[in-house]
Amino acid sequence: MLHSRIEDALNKQINLEFSASYIYLGMALFMDAKHLSGFASWMVAQSDEERTHARRLLRYMLDRNGNVQLESIPQPKIDYGSINEVFNASLEQEKSNTQSINALYALANELDDYATQAHLKWFLDEQVEEEKTITDILGRLELAGDDKTAILILDQALSERGGDSDAISIVDN
Ligand code: FEO
Repeated sequence: MLHSRIEDALNKQINLEFSASYIYLGMALFMDAKHLSGFASWMVAQSDEERTHARRLLRYMLDRNGNVQLESIPQPKIDYGSINEVFNASLEQEKSNTQSINALYALANELDDYATQAHLKWFLDEQVEEEKTITDILGRLELAGDDKTAILILDQALSERGGDSDAISIVDN
């Protein structure tokens, strides 16, 4: 049986992951409006991935007979000043998500909830990877500077991330 404090924290985390998914979709729309289809498809794949994070937590709560609460998701931003601003916002969001996962892990530790700690291990690893990936992209954007050719090469590189092609078609037209 899940402790009510863990249950509340897991529900909050599920909402954060769904909110992140929506924020990335907003970022995809911004990239699409700039005709950067590679950046857009990368953002759509990221948005899809955040939903899988939410569902992974949701499945865990159901397996522990927890009381799942699906809260409202805030409206995401669609207007940004630049590509760099988008990725800076993305990095800040991931850092904040890492803090939230860390707090959840600390709570599970405090309450001797070993199963929740074990489940969260995957998320800790995932956050390391996400922060690294976005930091790398930001580094490459800084190298590219105002060079449009370099930006287009990066756009092409990001289009090769793969993911759900049906989802990518959302921003194709
Ligand atoms: Fe669900 Fe971007 O971490």
